Amino acid sequence: KGKLPLVNKRILVTAGPTYEAIDPVRFIGNHSSGKMGFAIADELASLGAEVTLVAGPTAQISKQKSVKRIDVISAAQMLNACLENFEHANACVMCAAVADYTPANVATQKIKKHDDGLTIDLKKTIDILKTLGSKKQPGQVLVGFALETENEEQFAIEKLNKKNLDLIVLNSLNDAGAGFKSDTNKVTLIDRQLKKTVYDLKSKTEVAKDICAKLLQLIN
Ligand code: C5P
Repeated sequence: KGKLPLVNKRILVTAGPTYEAIDPVRFIGNHSSGKMGFAIADELASLGAEVTLVAGPTAQISKQKSVKRIDVISAAQMLNACLENFEHANACVMCAAVADYTPANVATQKIKKHDDGLTIDLKKTIDILKTLGSKKQPGQVLVGFALETENEEQFAIEKLNKKNLDLIVLNSLNDAGAGFKSDTNKVTLIDRQLKKTVYDLKSKTEVAKDICAKLLQLIN
């Protein structure tokens, strides 16, 4: 039996949504299920990698016991967990649907209902993937995701460049069966040479295998 291909490789994965607190009982979140990120973490672990999975609030459970899971809630917490684990990582796969905006102030008490409308001031969150991209050292492989509804490939390539990625996984909301909650996904992989590979609609477990096969080429 041959040695597993990712033995001694440390890989950081993010998955799920983030929740941004408005007050003690309310938050801004999104529909990410975490399924794609957990499938990738499990596949990497089955290939022998030491996987650290930073997960936002999600009902998913890892199938691979060796996956080291760090639970976080907010984008700021996810950033900190990633920064703590980035330096020693050989690769990172950032699957999480991180909030782009967070309340500028978190109310300490539950916000009371009034007769008029309510405005909540938002500030931008820090882009975790872009931050890691700016710190990337030779030999580290960085993979990002792009969920687009228009000009998909152009926007994905812009992200690849702007965030200093080695690979971007494009999922289009225009494809039936792709996206947040479904068990299937349809992706296009684009690498730094702008080589594009279009895959069929398949289960997220199978999509994870395709992404990890490409990562394996990049990491070696
Ligand atoms: O720019 P956009 O949010 O579309 O980029 C998506 C990619 O960037 C995903 O890989 C996502 O995990 C990552 N991202 C991040 N931190 C953010 C926003 C996005 O890591 N604050």
